[in-house]
Amino acid sequence: MSGRVRVPGDKSISHRAIMLGAIAEGRSEISGFLEGGDCLATLGAFRSMGVEIERQGPGRVSIDGVGREGLSGCAHPLDLGNAGTGMRLLAGLLAGQRFDSTLSGDASLSGRPMGRVIDPLSMMGARIDADGGHAPLTIRGGRQLIGIRYALPVASAQVKSCLLLAGLYAAGQTCVCEPMPTRDHTEQMLRSFGAEVLIRDDWICIQGGQLLHGVEMDVPADISSAAFFMVAASITPGSDLVLEHVGMNPTRTGVIEILRMMGANITVERDGMAGNEPVADLRVRYAPLTGIHIPESLVPLAIDEFPVIFIAAACAEGETELTGAAELRVKESDRIKAMVDGLTELGIGAVPRVDGLVMRGGKLTGGRVRSHADHRIAMAFTVAGLAATGAVDILDCANVDTSFPGYVDLAVAAGMRLSVSRDNPV
Ligand code: S3P
Repeated sequence: MSGRVRVPGDKSISHRAIMLGAIAEGRSEISGFLEGGDCLATLGAFRSMGVEIERQGPGRVSIDGVGREGLSGCAHPLDLGNAGTGMRLLAGLLAGQRFDSTLSGDASLSGRPMGRVIDPLSMMGARIDADGGHAPLTIRGGRQLIGIRYALPVASAQVKSCLLLAGLYAAGQTCVCEPMPTRDHTEQMLRSFGAEVLIRDDWICIQGGQLLHGVEMDVPADISSAAFFMVAASITPGSDLVLEHVGMNPTRTGVIEILRMMGANITVERDGMAGNEPVADLRVRYAPLTGIHIPESLVPLAIDEFPVIFIAAACAEGETELTGAAELRVKESDRIKAMVDGLTELGIGAVPRVDGLVMRGGKLTGGRVRSHADHRIAMAFTVAGLAATGAVDILDCANVDTSFPGYVDLAVAAGMRLSVSRDNPV
């Protein structure tokens, strides 16, 4: 794996840019926007609520903000596709509107837990109907929300962000406290748009009624997408790869810390800022890896990168153990089960646990694995193919496009031998 690669824009930041740009006063210009299925679903939802959003070029969108009270109701359900972030953040933003909304999603999203946002939003006075705590969600308008203090039972940036967005529409102050720090893009971006977010004794607080103002914003490359290339270069002898303009927000860099603990050679070539978000060019060279016990404090900071971290562990010498990561079971798929099943197929013995797994690195063979329509499982197994003795076939890859449009071309350009079969198009 060699050369220079710039992966597409950060998914979490791109979602938030559309949402805050839509309810801001005036125009926002976003560059580096991720034109993947998830963020395009969020973009489509706001267009359906009357917001003018124009594509100005690759990764460039302008949003004509309608102001805090300017959204209009949509007669049909807003389809968020595969996007958990889209659905959970929108639930908060829409709970305080004057109009009713329905949020729907694909089969994977409709199976994911929504009680974690419905419960605290209901405490704020929202009314949300959902069958068994699952999408579709019907959110009743015309409710006056009231700020609450809420200690999150799980470390989830989506739940935190949902409540902060609802808090913008609530009377008084809304405060949340997390069991462990999670990605803080909502807090950072609210500040970029001119809102005040206060942090006091581990409580993150927002005062209702604040106005946002349009901004120009450059979205960094997504560290979660860059992670596939970090592992690919780390496990492939002779590799020397530079990943450009990667988002380095400290609430997202757990993957770099974990890979370095395993012995990876990842250095920062150039660093700077993209608005409120730190960025860097990262140089990754091949290095032999060793298994580790992954510290639980790093779990929320690397939560989306575990599928490919497990591939690094499968190629490492010795045992790797992960605990405290039960959240992996309620992502786009049950990522512990999907990875254990796939690795077993490729000859690596991995033992699942309720909240993680334990595995011993070894020699990967070729084989056929299922992605369970999960973008990150599919991409993780392409990386496994670099180390395998035979071809790895990955089924059901269409959802790669939700977070990483153009993945195959970029991976091939960097040196991966990867192709898409007609029966299994990406
Ligand atoms: C995200 C938060 C995380 C992460 C997801 C994106 C966000 O989910 O897994 O891909 O943008 O806030 P949880 O909040 O469920 O941990």
